[in-house]
Amino acid sequence: MNGPDNPYTNTFTRLLDIESPIICGAMYPCSNPELVAAASEAGGIGIVQPISLTYVYGHDYRAGLRYIRSLTGKPIGVNMLVEGSSGTYRKRLEEWMDISLEEGVRFFVTALGNPRWVVDKAIQVGGIVFHDATNATHAKKALDNGVNGFICVNNRAGGHAGDLTPQALYDEISPLGMPTICAGGVGDRHTFHEALKIGYLGVQMGTRFIASKESAAHDDYKNAIIESKAADIVLTDRISGVPVSVINTPYIKRLGLKAGWLARQLLKGRWTKHWMRAFYAIMSGMKLKKASLWGSGYRDFFQAGKSVGTIDNVTSVADIMNELRDDHGS
Ligand SMILES: Cc1cc2nc3c(=O)[nH]c(=O)nc-3n(C[C@H](O)[C@H](O)[C@H](O)COP(=O)(O)O)c2cc1C
Repeated sequence: MNGPDNPYTNTFTRLLDIESPIICGAMYPCSNPELVAAASEAGGIGIVQPISLTYVYGHDYRAGLRYIRSLTGKPIGVNMLVEGSSGTYRKRLEEWMDISLEEGVRFFVTALGNPRWVVDKAIQVGGIVFHDATNATHAKKALDNGVNGFICVNNRAGGHAGDLTPQALYDEISPLGMPTICAGGVGDRHTFHEALKIGYLGVQMGTRFIASKESAAHDDYKNAIIESKAADIVLTDRISGVPVSVINTPYIKRLGLKAGWLARQLLKGRWTKHWMRAFYAIMSGMKLKKASLWGSGYRDFFQAGKSVGTIDNVTSVADIMNELRDDHGS
């Protein structure tokens, strides 16, 4: 537990009351409730992805949170994708936020938009909000809106990757004086300790946890992660309209990595871009859900980061955490 005997105790672990500064990042569509619970139970913290919990795994939101609670009594977090949050989506997000607070969640990871309203709700009950940032400009804006720290998403991350290396991003964001967490490229003890050496207080990992026993991802997906090297990760904007890291499977090679000319124009337009993103979100949501749960038999849209190069087995979340924390030989 947190305390003088735990070498990983720091400002971040104390803030969240967890043992190890290791976050199992939110993943659409890979955040199955058992994976989230296992990460918290093993001493890190699992982040709920509300769309995964409801749309992919079919839980009513509150019942889903209670199910996770039945698997672990330790803290969990919730991801809020606040981009363009207006209309029906915003209403749904606010409901999820209120239910999360009612069910005792106190840690939130915001991404893509202005986190102000999430901060305003969280702050009333002593909640903590960390914002995903890929550069200092976005981080500064989020800080002006009251966040407590940053998940620094670098150019090795799975999902929507950033442009900067872990070191360059730390150098940009750490002068803001808030806690920073490294997201991207961490998959083993060596990369975990590299991130801590740079000065990050912890890590957020996605890809490593997809290749775990508790992950509901299809075996084809887990095997693709084990077999791939960092060089097999490519960025495609064919999935969501913004670049996403995926394994360069034969299907991705056939499809190409760039959205078509018309789609690109619509994505640039002030009014059309929201509509276009929504369209992509629905289409990609269906494709990603099918690929991750049904495997290569559907289509190989396997999102992953460059940490694939550090992953060579499928093991339990507890074993993954123990391997990271073991200082011997790092
Ligand atoms: C399949 C997949 C889906 C993701 N979905 C989300 C998401 O819905 N929300 C979010 O904030 N981050 C998302 N991420 C980013 C992760 O939370 C985490 O920051 C990232 O995976 C870290 O990089 P790594 O994969 O190299 O460990 C996703 C990542 C992956 C691999």
